[in-house]
Amino acid sequence: MTLDDGVTGIGADRRLGNAHRDLRRGQTEVVDASDRSIRLAASLLQAGHIVGIPTETVYGLAADAANPDAVARVFLAKGRPSEHPLIVHLGQEANLSDWALRVPPQASRLADAFWPGPLTLVLDRHPSVLDAVTGGQDTVALRMPAHPAAQRLLRVFGGGLAAPSANLFGRVSPTTAYDVCAALGGAVDLVVDGGPCEVGVESTIVAFEGEDVVILRPGGVSSEAIAGVLGRGALATARRALRAPGMLASHYAPATMLELCSSGDAGPLAAELISTGRRVGVLSLTRIEVLGAAVAWDAGGEMAVFARSLYQRLRQADDERLDVLVVALPPDTGLGTAIRDRLRRAAHRPPS
Ligand code: TXA
Ligand code: MG
Repeated sequence: MTLDDGVTGIGADRRLGNAHRDLRRGQTEVVDASDRSIRLAASLLQAGHIVGIPTETVYGLAADAANPDAVARVFLAKGRPSEHPLIVHLGQEANLSDWALRVPPQASRLADAFWPGPLTLVLDRHPSVLDAVTGGQDTVALRMPAHPAAQRLLRVFGGGLAAPSANLFGRVSPTTAYDVCAALGGAVDLVVDGGPCEVGVESTIVAFEGEDVVILRPGGVSSEAIAGVLGRGALATARRALRAPGMLASHYAPATMLELCSSGDAGPLAAELISTGRRVGVLSLTRIEVLGAAVAWDAGGEMAVFARSLYQRLRQADDERLDVLVVALPPDTGLGTAIRDRLRRAAHRPPS
Protein backbone atom coordinates (compact mmCIF):
# COMPACT_ATOMS: atom_id res chain seq x y z
CA MET A 1 0.00 0.00 0.00
CA THR A 2 1.16 3.47 -0.67
CA LEU A 3 0.25 6.56 1.24
CA ASP A 4 -0.34 10.00 -0.13
CA ASP A 5 2.66 12.25 -0.56
CA GLY A 6 3.83 13.83 2.64
CA VAL A 7 3.47 10.72 4.75
CA THR A 8 6.42 8.84 6.08
CA GLY A 9 6.00 5.63 8.04
CA ILE A 10 9.14 6.26 9.97
CA GLY A 11 9.96 3.89 12.80
CA ALA A 12 9.88 5.38 16.26
CA ASP A 13 13.21 4.02 17.38
CA ARG A 14 15.26 5.64 14.67
CA ARG A 15 13.64 9.03 14.90
CA LEU A 16 12.44 9.83 18.37
CA GLY A 17 15.69 11.03 19.85
CA ASN A 18 15.69 14.24 17.87
CA ALA A 19 12.17 14.12 16.54
CA HIS A 20 11.49 17.79 17.21
CA ARG A 21 14.28 18.77 14.92
CA ASP A 22 13.25 16.20 12.35
CA LEU A 23 9.67 17.36 12.04
CA ARG A 24 9.63 18.73 8.57
CA ARG A 25 6.90 20.91 7.20
CA GLY A 26 4.15 18.94 5.54
CA GLN A 27 5.46 15.59 6.77
CA THR A 28 3.45 13.22 8.92
CA GLU A 29 5.30 10.82 11.17
CA VAL A 30 3.68 7.59 12.27
CA VAL A 31 5.00 6.20 15.53
CA ASP A 32 4.11 3.21 17.67
CA ALA A 33 2.50 3.61 21.09
CA SER A 34 5.69 3.06 23.12
CA ASP A 35 6.35 5.24 26.18
CA ARG A 36 8.89 7.16 24.14
CA SER A 37 6.36 7.90 21.41
CA ILE A 38 3.79 8.95 23.99
CA ARG A 39 6.31 11.40 25.50
CA LEU A 40 7.02 12.77 22.03
CA ALA A 41 3.29 13.14 21.29
CA ALA A 42 2.74 14.90 24.63
CA SER A 43 5.57 17.34 24.05
CA LEU A 44 4.36 18.14 20.54
CA LEU A 45 0.86 18.75 21.88
CA GLN A 46 2.27 20.99 24.60
CA ALA A 47 4.05 22.96 21.88
CA GLY A 48 0.75 23.52 20.01
CA HIS A 49 1.07 20.82 17.34
CA ILE A 50 -1.79 18.54 16.30
CA VAL A 51 -1.44 14.78 16.70
CA GLY A 52 -3.49 11.83 15.46
CA ILE A 53 -4.32 9.61 18.42
CA PRO A 54 -5.96 6.22 18.82
CA THR A 55 -9.11 5.89 20.89
CA GLU A 56 -11.27 2.81 21.35
CA THR A 57 -13.95 4.32 19.05
CA VAL A 58 -12.15 6.01 16.12
CA TYR A 59 -8.86 7.89 15.73
CA GLY A 60 -8.95 11.49 16.93
CA LEU A 61 -7.11 14.58 15.76
CA ALA A 62 -5.90 16.02 19.05
CA ALA A 63 -4.88 19.50 20.16
CA ASP A 64 -4.28 21.10 23.54
CA ALA A 65 -7.83 22.15 24.51
CA ALA A 66 -6.38 25.19 26.32
CA ASN A 67 -4.45 26.50 23.31
CA PRO A 68 -6.63 28.43 20.83
CA ASP A 69 -4.00 28.34 18.07
CA ALA A 70 -3.68 24.57 18.33
CA VAL A 71 -7.46 24.15 18.29
CA ALA A 72 -7.65 26.38 15.20
CA ARG A 73 -5.16 24.04 13.49
CA VAL A 74 -7.55 21.12 14.02
CA PHE A 75 -10.39 22.95 12.25
CA LEU A 76 -8.06 23.91 9.43
CA ALA A 77 -6.70 20.37 8.94
CA LYS A 78 -10.19 18.84 8.86
CA GLY A 79 -11.84 21.56 6.82
CA ARG A 80 -14.42 21.71 9.61
CA PRO A 81 -16.77 24.69 10.07
CA SER A 82 -15.74 26.60 13.20
CA GLU A 83 -19.18 26.48 14.85
CA HIS A 84 -18.97 22.69 15.14
CA PRO A 85 -17.77 22.05 18.70
CA LEU A 86 -15.12 19.52 19.68
CA ILE A 87 -15.11 16.82 22.35
CA VAL A 88 -12.55 17.36 25.13
CA HIS A 89 -10.79 14.12 26.09
CA LEU A 90 -9.76 13.78 29.71
CA GLY A 91 -7.44 11.45 31.60
CA GLN A 92 -8.58 9.48 34.61
CA GLU A 93 -6.89 11.96 36.94
CA ALA A 94 -8.77 14.90 35.44
CA ASN A 95 -10.95 17.08 37.60
CA LEU A 96 -14.37 17.40 36.00
CA SER A 97 -14.99 20.65 37.85
CA ASP A 98 -12.15 22.26 35.84
CA TRP A 99 -14.30 21.76 32.72
CA ALA A 100 -17.92 21.68 33.80
CA LEU A 101 -19.76 24.19 35.95
CA ARG A 102 -21.92 21.46 37.48
CA VAL A 103 -22.29 17.75 37.04
CA PRO A 104 -25.89 16.52 37.32
CA PRO A 105 -26.27 13.35 39.45
CA GLN A 106 -27.36 11.42 36.35
CA ALA A 107 -24.13 12.44 34.59
CA SER A 108 -22.05 11.26 37.56
CA ARG A 109 -23.76 7.90 37.49
CA LEU A 110 -23.10 7.50 33.77
CA ALA A 111 -19.47 8.55 34.16
CA ASP A 112 -19.03 6.06 37.02
CA ALA A 113 -20.55 3.30 34.89
CA PHE A 114 -18.96 3.97 31.49
CA TRP A 115 -15.76 5.99 31.90
CA PRO A 116 -13.22 5.38 30.64
CA GLY A 117 -15.21 4.37 27.56
CA PRO A 118 -17.20 5.41 24.51
CA LEU A 119 -19.53 7.89 26.24
CA THR A 120 -19.47 11.68 25.85
CA LEU A 121 -21.29 13.91 28.35
CA VAL A 122 -22.48 17.38 27.33
CA LEU A 123 -22.33 19.56 30.45
CA ASP A 124 -22.54 23.26 31.27
CA ARG A 125 -19.11 24.58 30.48
CA HIS A 126 -16.68 26.05 32.97
CA PRO A 127 -16.04 29.70 32.01
CA SER A 128 -12.38 28.90 31.31
CA VAL A 129 -13.19 26.50 28.44
CA LEU A 130 -12.27 28.08 25.12
CA ASP A 131 -15.00 29.29 22.75
CA ALA A 132 -13.03 27.67 19.94
CA VAL A 133 -13.66 24.28 21.59
CA THR A 134 -17.38 24.74 22.38
CA GLY A 135 -18.29 26.61 19.22
CA GLY A 136 -19.35 29.47 21.48
CA GLN A 137 -22.04 27.38 23.20
CA ASP A 138 -22.57 27.34 26.96
CA THR A 139 -21.95 23.60 27.08
CA VAL A 140 -18.87 21.43 26.63
CA ALA A 141 -18.65 17.80 25.50
CA LEU A 142 -16.37 15.66 27.71
CA ARG A 143 -15.18 12.10 27.38
CA MET A 144 -12.63 9.83 29.04
CA PRO A 145 -11.35 7.44 26.34
CA ALA A 146 -10.56 3.84 27.27
CA HIS A 147 -7.74 3.18 24.79
CA PRO A 148 -4.62 2.55 26.90
CA ALA A 149 -2.41 4.68 24.62
CA ALA A 150 -4.86 7.60 24.85
CA GLN A 151 -4.94 7.23 28.62
CA ARG A 152 -1.14 7.18 28.84
CA LEU A 153 -0.93 10.21 26.58
CA LEU A 154 -3.47 12.14 28.64
CA ARG A 155 -1.57 11.31 31.84
CA VAL A 156 1.75 12.53 30.44
CA PHE A 157 0.18 15.54 28.72
CA GLY A 158 -1.61 16.55 31.89
CA GLY A 159 -4.50 18.57 30.39
CA GLY A 160 -7.53 18.10 28.19
CA LEU A 161 -7.22 17.19 24.51
CA ALA A 162 -9.79 18.59 22.11
CA ALA A 163 -10.17 15.94 19.43
CA PRO A 164 -12.68 15.40 16.66
CA SER A 165 -12.48 12.27 14.55
CA ALA A 166 -9.36 12.48 12.37
CA ASN A 167 -11.11 12.54 8.98
CA LEU A 168 -11.88 15.28 6.52
CA PHE A 169 -15.15 16.98 7.38
CA GLY A 170 -18.15 14.89 6.26
CA ARG A 171 -16.11 11.82 5.33
CA VAL A 172 -15.69 8.38 6.88
CA SER A 173 -14.02 8.32 10.31
CA PRO A 174 -10.60 6.63 10.59
CA THR A 175 -10.19 3.38 12.50
CA THR A 176 -6.49 2.82 11.79
CA ALA A 177 -3.40 5.05 11.78
CA TYR A 178 -3.18 4.38 8.05
CA ASP A 179 -6.65 5.89 7.55
CA VAL A 180 -5.56 9.05 9.38
CA CYS A 181 -2.55 9.44 7.11
CA ALA A 182 -4.58 8.72 3.99
CA ALA A 183 -7.13 11.39 4.96
CA LEU A 184 -4.97 14.06 6.56
CA GLY A 185 -1.40 13.14 5.59
CA GLY A 186 0.82 16.17 5.61
CA ALA A 187 -1.65 18.28 7.59
CA VAL A 188 -0.97 16.46 10.86
CA ASP A 189 2.44 16.39 12.49
CA LEU A 190 2.39 13.00 14.16
CA VAL A 191 0.12 9.95 14.30
CA VAL A 192 0.35 7.52 17.20
CA ASP A 193 -0.46 4.03 15.91
CA GLY A 194 -2.43 2.20 18.58
CA GLY A 195 -3.74 -0.51 16.25
CA PRO A 196 -7.23 -0.84 14.80
CA CYS A 197 -10.01 0.67 16.93
CA GLU A 198 -11.85 -1.82 19.10
CA VAL A 199 -15.35 -0.28 18.99
CA GLY A 200 -15.25 1.23 15.49
CA VAL A 201 -18.11 3.75 15.81
CA GLU A 202 -17.93 7.04 17.69
CA SER A 203 -18.95 7.61 21.30
CA THR A 204 -22.54 7.98 22.42
CA ILE A 205 -23.24 11.67 23.15
CA VAL A 206 -25.58 12.36 26.06
CA ALA A 207 -26.98 15.73 27.18
CA PHE A 208 -28.97 16.73 30.27
CA GLU A 209 -32.01 18.99 30.07
CA GLY A 210 -33.40 19.59 33.52
CA GLU A 211 -34.42 16.12 34.71
CA ASP A 212 -34.21 14.64 31.24
CA VAL A 213 -31.34 12.66 29.76
CA VAL A 214 -31.15 12.85 25.98
CA ILE A 215 -29.01 10.87 23.54
CA LEU A 216 -27.75 13.33 20.90
CA ARG A 217 -25.77 10.72 18.98
CA PRO A 218 -26.06 6.93 19.37
CA GLY A 219 -22.64 5.32 19.68
CA GLY A 220 -20.43 2.80 21.45
CA VAL A 221 -22.55 2.69 24.64
CA SER A 222 -26.07 1.48 23.83
CA SER A 223 -29.23 3.24 24.98
CA GLU A 224 -30.18 -0.03 26.69
CA ALA A 225 -26.97 0.09 28.75
CA ILE A 226 -27.63 3.73 29.67
CA ALA A 227 -31.22 2.95 30.65
CA GLY A 228 -29.86 0.03 32.66
CA VAL A 229 -27.86 2.45 34.80
CA LEU A 230 -30.40 5.27 35.08
CA GLY A 231 -33.53 3.13 35.28
CA ARG A 232 -36.17 2.47 32.70
CA GLY A 233 -37.93 5.52 31.34
CA ALA A 234 -35.03 7.82 32.20
CA LEU A 235 -34.20 8.54 28.60
CA ALA A 236 -36.26 11.33 27.10
CA THR A 237 -36.60 12.45 23.55
CA ALA A 238 -35.46 16.03 23.20
CA ARG A 239 -38.41 18.35 23.86
CA ARG A 240 -36.83 21.09 21.88
CA ALA A 241 -34.28 20.76 19.14
CA LEU A 242 -31.06 20.67 21.14
CA ARG A 243 -28.29 22.35 19.29
CA ALA A 244 -25.99 19.53 18.27
CA PRO A 245 -23.87 21.01 15.54
CA GLY A 246 -22.18 18.43 13.42
CA MET A 247 -25.25 16.20 13.54
CA LEU A 248 -25.77 16.56 9.82
CA ALA A 249 -28.05 14.43 7.69
CA SER A 250 -25.14 13.80 5.36
CA HIS A 251 -21.94 12.64 7.08
CA TYR A 252 -19.54 9.68 7.28
CA ALA A 253 -19.92 9.40 3.53
CA PRO A 254 -17.86 7.21 1.17
CA ALA A 255 -17.82 8.01 -2.54
CA THR A 256 -19.66 4.76 -3.33
CA MET A 257 -23.45 4.95 -3.47
CA LEU A 258 -25.14 3.07 -0.62
CA GLU A 259 -28.49 1.28 -0.83
CA LEU A 260 -29.89 0.52 2.62
CA CYS A 261 -32.53 -2.15 3.07
CA SER A 262 -33.76 -4.96 5.31
CA SER A 263 -31.78 -8.20 5.35
CA GLY A 264 -34.63 -9.90 3.47
CA ASP A 265 -34.50 -7.38 0.64
CA ALA A 266 -30.72 -7.20 0.26
CA GLY A 267 -30.28 -10.31 -1.93
CA PRO A 268 -33.03 -9.47 -4.47
CA LEU A 269 -32.00 -5.80 -4.60
CA ALA A 270 -28.33 -6.68 -5.19
CA ALA A 271 -29.31 -9.21 -7.89
CA GLU A 272 -31.44 -6.60 -9.64
CA LEU A 273 -28.62 -4.05 -9.59
CA ILE A 274 -26.14 -6.64 -10.89
CA SER A 275 -28.50 -7.47 -13.76
CA THR A 276 -28.31 -3.84 -14.89
CA GLY A 277 -24.55 -4.20 -15.25
CA ARG A 278 -23.47 -2.45 -12.07
CA ARG A 279 -20.55 -3.48 -9.92
CA VAL A 280 -22.25 -4.36 -6.64
CA GLY A 281 -21.07 -5.21 -3.14
CA VAL A 282 -23.11 -6.51 -0.22
CA LEU A 283 -22.59 -5.75 3.48
CA SER A 284 -24.60 -7.52 6.15
CA LEU A 285 -24.60 -8.81 9.71
CA THR A 286 -25.04 -12.42 8.61
CA ARG A 287 -23.96 -13.85 5.29
CA ILE A 288 -26.08 -13.16 2.20
CA GLU A 289 -25.13 -15.05 -0.97
CA VAL A 290 -25.58 -13.06 -4.15
CA LEU A 291 -24.50 -14.49 -7.49
CA GLY A 292 -22.29 -12.06 -9.36
CA ALA A 293 -21.61 -9.71 -6.44
CA ALA A 294 -18.12 -8.18 -6.59
CA VAL A 295 -17.78 -8.58 -2.82
CA ALA A 296 -20.02 -9.93 -0.05
CA TRP A 297 -18.97 -8.89 3.43
CA ASP A 298 -20.62 -10.09 6.62
CA ALA A 299 -19.92 -9.79 10.32
CA GLY A 300 -20.49 -13.43 11.20
CA GLY A 301 -23.65 -12.44 13.07
CA GLU A 302 -21.66 -10.38 15.61
CA MET A 303 -22.89 -6.81 16.06
CA ALA A 304 -19.57 -5.77 17.64
CA VAL A 305 -17.73 -7.04 14.56
CA PHE A 306 -20.14 -5.14 12.30
CA ALA A 307 -19.43 -1.92 14.22
CA ARG A 308 -15.67 -2.51 14.34
CA SER A 309 -15.43 -3.15 10.59
CA LEU A 310 -18.11 -0.71 9.36
CA TYR A 311 -15.91 2.23 8.34
CA GLN A 312 -13.24 -0.09 6.90
CA ARG A 313 -15.91 -1.67 4.69
CA LEU A 314 -17.11 1.75 3.49
CA ARG A 315 -13.53 2.61 2.59
CA GLN A 316 -13.03 -0.74 0.89
CA ALA A 317 -16.18 -0.12 -1.18
CA ASP A 318 -14.37 2.91 -2.62
CA ASP A 319 -11.13 0.94 -3.10
CA GLU A 320 -13.07 -1.79 -4.92
CA ARG A 321 -14.60 0.87 -7.15
CA LEU A 322 -18.08 -0.46 -6.52
CA ASP A 323 -21.00 1.32 -8.18
CA VAL A 324 -23.29 0.40 -5.30
CA LEU A 325 -22.89 -1.15 -1.86
CA VAL A 326 -26.12 -2.82 -0.76
CA VAL A 327 -26.29 -2.81 3.04
CA ALA A 328 -28.68 -4.94 5.04
CA LEU A 329 -29.43 -2.82 8.12
CA PRO A 330 -28.82 -4.63 11.42
CA PRO A 331 -31.53 -4.66 14.11
CA ASP A 332 -32.10 -1.37 15.93
CA THR A 333 -30.78 -2.59 19.29
CA GLY A 334 -27.44 -2.31 21.09
CA LEU A 335 -24.65 -1.20 18.76
CA GLY A 336 -27.08 -1.69 15.87
CA THR A 337 -28.63 1.71 16.64
CA ALA A 338 -25.31 3.50 16.09
CA ILE A 339 -24.53 1.44 12.98
CA ARG A 340 -27.91 2.33 11.46
CA ASP A 341 -27.43 6.01 12.33
CA ARG A 342 -24.03 6.15 10.60
CA LEU A 343 -25.27 4.23 7.57
CA ARG A 344 -28.25 6.59 7.15
CA ARG A 345 -25.95 9.60 7.20
CA ALA A 346 -23.44 7.90 4.90
CA ALA A 347 -26.24 7.11 2.42
CA HIS A 348 -27.81 10.56 2.50
CA ARG A 349 -27.10 12.59 -0.61
CA PRO A 350 -27.80 16.27 -0.21
CA PRO A 351 -30.14 17.47 -2.97
CA SER A 352 -28.03 18.87 -5.80
O1 TXA B 1 -15.80 8.68 19.69
C1 TXA B 1 -15.76 9.89 19.52
O2 TXA B 1 -16.57 10.65 20.06
C2 TXA B 1 -14.65 10.46 18.62
C3 TXA B 1 -13.31 10.16 19.30
C4 TXA B 1 -12.16 10.78 18.58
O3 TXA B 1 -13.36 10.55 20.64
N1 TXA B 1 -14.82 11.84 18.42
C5 TXA B 1 -15.76 12.38 17.61
O4 TXA B 1 -15.67 13.75 17.46
O5 TXA B 1 -16.62 11.72 17.06
P1 TXA B 1 -16.43 14.54 16.31
O6 TXA B 1 -15.93 15.92 16.39
O7 TXA B 1 -16.27 13.85 15.03
O8 TXA B 1 -17.91 14.55 16.79
C6 TXA B 1 -18.22 15.23 17.96
C7 TXA B 1 -19.63 15.70 17.97
C8 TXA B 1 -19.87 16.94 17.13
O9 TXA B 1 -20.31 16.60 15.85
C9 TXA B 1 -20.95 17.67 17.88
O10 TXA B 1 -22.20 17.42 17.33
C10 TXA B 1 -20.93 17.07 19.27
O11 TXA B 1 -19.90 16.14 19.30
N2 TXA B 1 -20.67 18.08 20.27
C11 TXA B 1 -19.49 18.55 20.70
N3 TXA B 1 -19.67 19.50 21.64
C12 TXA B 1 -21.00 19.61 21.81
C13 TXA B 1 -21.82 20.42 22.64
N4 TXA B 1 -21.30 21.30 23.48
N5 TXA B 1 -23.15 20.27 22.54
C14 TXA B 1 -23.70 19.40 21.69
N6 TXA B 1 -22.97 18.59 20.87
C15 TXA B 1 -21.64 18.71 20.92
MG1 MG C 1 -16.53 13.08 13.25
